[in-house]
Amino acid sequence: MTKHRIGLIGLGGMAYEHLRWMNAEGRFELVAISDVNAEALEKAGKQFGIPAEKRYSEFERLIADTDVDAIVAVTPNDSHAAIVRACLEAGKPFLAEKPFTRVFEEAEELLELYRGKPAKGMIGFSYRYTAAFRYARELIREGKLGPVRSFSIQYLQSWGGVQNDTPFLWRFDKRVTGTGTLGDLGSHMIDMARYLFGEFEELSAQLHTIVPERRDPASGRMAKVEVDDFASFQARMAGDVFGVFQTSRNAFGSGNQHEASVYGDFGTLHASTLNPDQLVWIRHDDTSGEIARTTLDVPHRCKTSQYADFAAMLDGEERDGLPGVVDGYRNQQVLDAIVRAHEAKRTIRI
Ligand SMILES: NC(=O)c1ccc[n+]([C@@H]2O[C@H](COP(=O)([O-])OP(=O)(O)OC[C@H]3O[C@@H](n4cnc5c(N)ncnc54)[C@H](O)[C@@H]3O)[C@@H](O)[C@H]2O)c1
Repeated sequence: MTKHRIGLIGLGGMAYEHLRWMNAEGRFELVAISDVNAEALEKAGKQFGIPAEKRYSEFERLIADTDVDAIVAVTPNDSHAAIVRACLEAGKPFLAEKPFTRVFEEAEELLELYRGKPAKGMIGFSYRYTAAFRYARELIREGKLGPVRSFSIQYLQSWGGVQNDTPFLWRFDKRVTGTGTLGDLGSHMIDMARYLFGEFEELSAQLHTIVPERRDPASGRMAKVEVDDFASFQARMAGDVFGVFQTSRNAFGSGNQHEASVYGDFGTLHASTLNPDQLVWIRHDDTSGEIARTTLDVPHRCKTSQYADFAAMLDGEERDGLPGVVDGYRNQQVLDAIVRAHEAKRTIRI
C-alpha cells in the first residue's frame, strides 16, 4: 500500500504525539518539517533523518513542496487560520489541530474559501476516536436509551492550578490563543456534543480566570492573564436535548478527564477517557424490577484511530463522523457564541 508523504508543521509537545499515532498506522512517511524555532527544527530533523533542504522555517514553503502529499499542522492557535488558508489555496490535503481558528472571523473566511475551493481537510477533534465515545454514539443512534433528554460533558485538567505555579505560556496569551481553556478543552466538549447529539440551538455561559496573573519566563515579570481557565455553559441542542458543560485547567487531581453522561427515557450511559474501553450502562431490569448498573465492553469496531480516518480521507474514502472543515467552522461558531453569551450575560441563539 502506498504511503502518504507528510509535511509536519509545528514541532512542539503535541507533534510528537501525532508522530506516534502516524507511525502506529503504518500508512505515512514523514518527509518534511517546519517550525519557527530553529532549535526545534534541528532537533526533529536529526531525530527523524529529515535532510536540511526539507526543514523549513516558513510553513508556506513546506506547503508548496511538491514532494509533500499532505500536511499535519500542530502549531499554536494564532497560525491555525493562515496554515489552513494556505492548504486550501494550494489544494493540499491537511489534518489541522483544534481549535479551528483563533477567532470566529477567521473561521468565516476559511469556510467561504473552502466552499469555493474544497480540499480534503480534517480537524484534530481527536476524542471522536476514543472508543467509549464512539460506542456511546452508536448506542444513542440505535435508540438503546430511548429518547435522549439531557446530558453533561466535562473536560478537566489540573496543570494550570496554583499548586503547579505554571508560567505564562502562549496558552494564557489572548493574542495567541483567542480564549483559554474554552478554546483548548472546551472545543473538544463542543465537538463531542455535536458528534453525539447534533447542532447547538442556544446557550448561556460563564467564563472565569482563576489565576489572574502568571510569571512570564521571558521577562521574569508577572503578566496579566486575559483568558479563562474555567468555563461553564449550558445549551439546548436540536431536538430539545439539554446539556451542561464544564471545563477547567485548575481541577485538582484531574489529569486528562473528558467525560460524558447521557440520560435517556430508558437508560443512562457514562463514557470517560479514564476508562476508554468500557461504558457504564444503567437501566431498568425487567426481571428483577431493580435499577441495574452494568459495564459494557466497547466492541473492536469502535477502536479505530484518527490516523486511520486521515489515511482513508487521503485515499478518497468518505467516512462517517470524520471531523472536517465544516465541523471546525461550527465549533468556532459555538465558541464565539459562548464568549458573547458570557459578556452579555444572556442566552444566545446559534
Ligand atoms: N487534539 C488534542 O488533543 C490536542 C492536545 C494538545 C494540543 N493540541 C493542539 O496542538 C497545537 C500545538 O500544541 P502544543 O502543545 O504542541 O504546543 P507547543 O507550544 O508545545 O508547540 C508548538 C510548536 O509550534 C511552533 N510554531 C509556532 N508558530 C509556528 C509557525 N507559524 N510555523 C511553524 N511552527 C510554529 C512552535 O515553535 C512550537 O515548536 C495547539 O493548537 C493545541 O490546541 C491538541
